[in-house]
Amino acid sequence: MKPINVGLLGIGTVGGGTFNVLARNSEEIARRAGRPIRISVVADKNTALAESVTKGACRVTDDAFAVVSDPEIDIVIELIGGYGVAKELVLQAIHNGKHVVTANKALLAVHGNEIFAEAQKKRVMVAFEAAVAGGIPIIKAVREGLAANRIEWIAGIINGTTNFILSEMRDKSLPFDVVLKEAQALGYAEADPTFDIEGVDAAHKITILSALAFGTSMQFDKAHIEGISKLDAVDIKYAEQLGYRIKLLGVTRRAPEGIELRVHPTLIPAKRLIANVEGAMNAVLVQGDAVGATLYYGKGAGAEPTASAVIADLVDVTRMHTADPENRVPHLAFQPNQLANIPVLPMDEVRTSYYLRLRVEDQPGVLADITRILANEAISIDAVIQKEPDEGEAQTDLILLTHLTREKHINAAIAKIEALPVVAGKVTRLRMEELGK
Ligand code: HSE
Repeated sequence: MKPINVGLLGIGTVGGGTFNVLARNSEEIARRAGRPIRISVVADKNTALAESVTKGACRVTDDAFAVVSDPEIDIVIELIGGYGVAKELVLQAIHNGKHVVTANKALLAVHGNEIFAEAQKKRVMVAFEAAVAGGIPIIKAVREGLAANRIEWIAGIINGTTNFILSEMRDKSLPFDVVLKEAQALGYAEADPTFDIEGVDAAHKITILSALAFGTSMQFDKAHIEGISKLDAVDIKYAEQLGYRIKLLGVTRRAPEGIELRVHPTLIPAKRLIANVEGAMNAVLVQGDAVGATLYYGKGAGAEPTASAVIADLVDVTRMHTADPENRVPHLAFQPNQLANIPVLPMDEVRTSYYLRLRVEDQPGVLADITRILANEAISIDAVIQKEPDEGEAQTDLILLTHLTREKHINAAIAKIEALPVVAGKVTRLRMEELGK
């Protein structure tokens, strides 16, 4: 049977993995897809690298724009990343009637609405399994496997670099800066790891999952984003003593007034399976009204795990490319004319529970003053621990866990607590998620 022809843009780690897995498993993949899938051309600025990976098996060029307008090409795989030239190439490929497979979460979270609208107009598919959680088929699960459900919430460890850093901080009681250097030396974190450690990468991914779960457009600009660079190792230790682990979670939840869309360090009960996801692994917990909680676990990055997702998309596109667009799986799970305009809640309106750490004078009435402030904001306390002051110290750490409240109420209480003369410095505030029903 006639092969389907693919143009691969970018032969870095994931591009190389895709080329190799496709070559290694070509027969099995053709049996699944119904016809061979052939990479006909690879475009990369580094043609020497491309030649060394492809070893004469296909054409090599440094001109990616020539590939997206090559009449022989049916599917373009975009593995360049970012939203500069990658956006131009993807739009050009769509304009030329080519299907696109991409791992580019930043591009889709920020420009996905424009890209999907163009794809709709041109009746082509844009597939993006590799954009979220690498090798875990989470896009397929949310878009198709859970199609019966009203999705209630998704919470995910969707950035391997930060999960590695948090695991090391906890295991070895090391500060953030030291572990970050270790992560860079091991090649987990980029030389400029800002997108990873400041939560932007996770926000791109949870934005995509949120759109798929609730049938909205991409709302990345409304996401609340906090990373782990300011996290103190002492909070990881106290959390552990209280039975919690701290993870960088992407959370999206359906609330009565809108959708929550947020990334931040989060205390989760250590007894939850997802709390035990360590190192650079990823995991996504999805709560549907019919199915209940489902958990997806695996490698969120790396050459062959990500290639696994890219090639699954190639198989899907190959199977479906002769189908009428109306009969294909919609890009964002819901039919394009059925997307809902549900607002993302401002962070002030988000309801969750909190971990507070305060440095206080060890004297009578301090706890009473603090609990009165919380009570006046209608915040109920779940647990309190007060550490023994160190030898010769007049101050000590006080840790409070609250029940559910709105962010605006905890912020108001924190401002009042910080104004108390018996409280030294700033209150450390972390959010907690039970992740039960
Ligand atoms: N930088 C990402 C991570 C990998 O650390 O998980 C690709 O999405």
